[in-house]
Amino acid sequence: MDHTTQVARIKKAWQLIDSGQTTTTPGVKRAQVEAYTDKRWLDRELASVFKKHPLFMGLSGVIAEPGAYLTMEHGTLPILLVRGDDGVARAFINMCRHRGAPVAQGCGRTARFTCPYHAWTYDRTGVLKVIPDQRNFPGIEREAHGLTPLPLVESDGMIWVQPDPEAVINLDQHLASMRGELAGYDLQNYVHYQSRVLHRDINWKMPIDTFLEPYHFATLHKDTVGPIFYGNLCLFEGHGLHHWMAVVRKSIDSLRERPESEWDFVKHTAISYQLFPNTIFTMQADHVETWRVFPVQGRVDQCVIYFDCYVPEPVISDKAKAYWDKNIDLAIRTVDGEDIAMQQDMERNYLSGAMKEVLIGQNEPALAHFHQSLERSMATE
Ligand code: FES
Ligand SMILES: [Fe+2]
Repeated sequence: MDHTTQVARIKKAWQLIDSGQTTTTPGVKRAQVEAYTDKRWLDRELASVFKKHPLFMGLSGVIAEPGAYLTMEHGTLPILLVRGDDGVARAFINMCRHRGAPVAQGCGRTARFTCPYHAWTYDRTGVLKVIPDQRNFPGIEREAHGLTPLPLVESDGMIWVQPDPEAVINLDQHLASMRGELAGYDLQNYVHYQSRVLHRDINWKMPIDTFLEPYHFATLHKDTVGPIFYGNLCLFEGHGLHHWMAVVRKSIDSLRERPESEWDFVKHTAISYQLFPNTIFTMQADHVETWRVFPVQGRVDQCVIYFDCYVPEPVISDKAKAYWDKNIDLAIRTVDGEDIAMQQDMERNYLSGAMKEVLIGQNEPALAHFHQSLERSMATE
């Protein structure tokens, strides 16, 4: 982020702090509770928002070396990401061409993918290399039975995949003005440190919702991150279907006595980029945390959350490890232990059918924007 932008945003933050205000959106918005409880609503989301947009899969560092791979569950398609010997990242449907078993599980590094069922074996570019007892598959050419590729673009240190083999990714069109904002972070230099996978009994939108307003900081997070930030105060900017929202650390006031040349907006905030549809990408002052949320097919009240932590340089010393572990512990305690714990209770309440609408206040512009983006995307399905 260039210095002029940082200075302008810091001045805006102080203006809000000094006037006791936050960025607002006009009028109270109402969101339908059935968006969290109705299986038909989820089916529409899977057919539209999860199919027709490229999905953020991680920073380049998540599969840094040739042969590094990772898999993920997804509402519609199982995805396998792997980096080839040529350094190119590729994505495939994680489904063996023999009888459909997943050829890889979790993450790791491998020269070849050998299906655990009957040992059909694929190389790092998805080419089928081995069919055991091939004489009993007359007419089945190995060349025509590689893993099915999915469209992938790696750019500015970020990997995007569209879970539709027929799609063509146009990142300029998808990210629009958000692309320059993200490119300014030199994300290709970040190192993947740790991941967590959480299976939780809540609709997939809830873990996204919870990042989109600091209205709850002073109450729900009073024992974790609440004391670090100004509660109920945010900066917000919409960028097409995406947006960013910054919450402000109280430490920003230490800059008031410092010359403008030393002002650093990133260091004194947490900036959450909502990358439509299912990612929260947070610049946490000195590292990156990403939360990607996928629905479980057929279950409107279940989701899988992938948390990834990226740091600016390889973690070698015990001191560095202890520092980053402490950061991750705080993130998990706050988000899983407080936000998601609360949302599991809310999902149960929603499923009771006692409430038809929830309210989004004028002080929750990012939350309103996310739900407007969903409406826009589903309206053109
Ligand atoms: S399903 Fe993969 S080898 Fe049979
Ligand atoms: Fe929260």
